[in-house]
Amino acid sequence: MLILQPELRNRKGEQAVDYDLLIRGGTVVSSQDMAKADVAISGGQIVAVGALSGRPREVVDASGMLVMPGGVDTHVHLDQRSRGPEMCDGFGTGSASAAAGGTTTVVCFAWQGKGESLSEVVKDYHQRARQSMVDYAFHLTITDATPAVLDQELPSLVEEGNRSVKIFMTYDGVRLDDAAVIRVLAAARRNKALVCVHAEHHDLISWMGEQLIAAGLTAPKYHPWGKPMIAEREAVNRIVALAEALDVPIQIFHVSGAQSAEEIARAQARGLKVWGETCVHYLTLVAEDLDRPGFEGAKLVFGPPARTKADQEALWDYMRRGIIEVISSDHAPTRYDDPKGKKFAGEDGPFTQIPNGIPGLAARLPVFFTEGVTKRRIDPPTFVRLVSTNPAKLVGLHPKKGAIAPGSDADVVIWDPAKSVTLTNERMHHGGDYTPYEGYQATGYPIRVLVRGVTVFDDGKVVGKAGHGQYLARAPYAKITPLGRFPTPFNPVDRKIV
Ligand code: URP
Ligand code: ZN
Ligand code: ZN
Repeated sequence: MLILQPELRNRKGEQAVDYDLLIRGGTVVSSQDMAKADVAISGGQIVAVGALSGRPREVVDASGMLVMPGGVDTHVHLDQRSRGPEMCDGFGTGSASAAAGGTTTVVCFAWQGKGESLSEVVKDYHQRARQSMVDYAFHLTITDATPAVLDQELPSLVEEGNRSVKIFMTYDGVRLDDAAVIRVLAAARRNKALVCVHAEHHDLISWMGEQLIAAGLTAPKYHPWGKPMIAEREAVNRIVALAEALDVPIQIFHVSGAQSAEEIARAQARGLKVWGETCVHYLTLVAEDLDRPGFEGAKLVFGPPARTKADQEALWDYMRRGIIEVISSDHAPTRYDDPKGKKFAGEDGPFTQIPNGIPGLAARLPVFFTEGVTKRRIDPPTFVRLVSTNPAKLVGLHPKKGAIAPGSDADVVIWDPAKSVTLTNERMHHGGDYTPYEGYQATGYPIRVLVRGVTVFDDGKVVGKAGHGQYLARAPYAKITPLGRFPTPFNPVDRKIV
C-alpha cells in the first residue's frame, strides 16, 4: 500500500505535526478489497494509507470499525421549487440528513420550470446550496427544451461543471415528449454531458389512473396499480433505443424491478453505455406495504412504485452481476401531515394527486448495509462500490470522491458494523415529519463522518456547520465519451458521415 508521510512545518520551519488526523487500527474498505490500515489526513485530503507512525494532531481509534469513503448520493432532490407541493428539505436540513447517514457528497437538481431560463435557475440554486455542510454538484433538469436552453444556455452550463442532464418521460408539466427527448439527447452529446432519465410511459399511466379512479379505487394503495412495471419497462426500452440511435450515454434512474433491469442488461450486452440505478426503497418495500390504515399509505407513494419480493431478489442479483451499479436515495421529501405535502389534495384525495417521493438520505447507507452486508447478500467492497465509488465515477467525481487513497478528499465514514440502531424520524435529521423506515432495526451504523477532514457527524450528533460544503465543478471525463457508433453511416447529431 502506498505510504506518504509529509513533514508539516510551522512558520519557523520547525517540524510540527505529521498529520492533522490519524484514523488508526480500522479496516479500510475500498471498492475492490478490505485490509487493516491506518488513514492519515492533512489539509482536508487523505495523505497516507498503511501502517503509519508519526505525530498526528488528533488520533481516532478505529479498532473494530470499517473505514470507508463517504457515501456519494447522486439522486437527491433538495430545495426544489414547485408551484404545488413543497419539498421539506433545503440544503441545510438536507445536508445534515446526508451527514447523519454517512453521505458526504450529494448531486441535486437545478430544476427548470416551464418558460424559465436554465442559467437563472442554476444561478439561484448556487445561492440556495450555500447552506450545505456536505459537498455538492448539480444535475440540470430540463422541462422546457427550447432552442435557447439547448443551444445557448446548455453549452456554458456544462462547461461550468454541470455535466449531467435530467429528463422526465412522465409527470404533467415536467415531462418531455419523444421529440423533445431526442433534442435533449443530441444537445447532451454535443456538450459531453450524461443524460439521466425518469422512464415511465406517461399516457399509459394517465389512462390507468383515470380508470382506477372511475372504478372508485382511489386510496394510496392503488398507486402501484396505476404505474405497472410494463409502463416502466416500455419507457426504458424506448429511451435506450433513442440513446442508441444518437449514441448518447445514459443512466436510467430508479430501476424498480426485474423487467427494467433486464432491458438494461440487454443494452449493456450490446456494448451500450447504459447504466442503471436503483434505490433502497425498491429493495425493502413491496406494493402491498402501501395497504395501511387511512391515508398512511401515502407515506410510501413514490414513482416508479414499489414492486414485488421477486423483483427485489432480481435487483440484488443484477447488483451482484454489476448491471445495476448505483444505489441512490432519490430523497424527494414532502411532509405527511401537511397540505403542502402528502395531503396536498386532502386525506381523501385520489392517489394520482399525492406528491411522489419519500425521504431517504440518512437511511440509505444504514438500511442498505443491513440488507446487503449484515444479511450477507453482498460483501463490504461491493457495498462501497454501489454507494460511493460507482456513483462518483459515473458523475465524474472519482477519485476526488468515492475513494480512500492518497490525494482523495478526506471524506471518510468510520462505521461500526455491529452497532444496532432502531431508526426513528429524529435520527434522520431531516425536515420531514416521518421516515418510511420508522422502527427499522439497522445493524451497521456511522460513528463519525468527515467531509474534507472536518467532522460533520459524531456519535449520533450532527456537528457540521452550514456552508462547509463546496460546489464540485465537474471536468470532462472519459466514462461518458460516446461510442462513435450509429445505426447507419450517418452521424445525425453532428450531421456528418462517419
Ligand atoms: O417519486 C419520486 N421518485 N419522486 C421524485 C422525483 C423523481 O421522480 O425522481
Ligand atoms: Zn424520477
Ligand atoms: Zn428523483
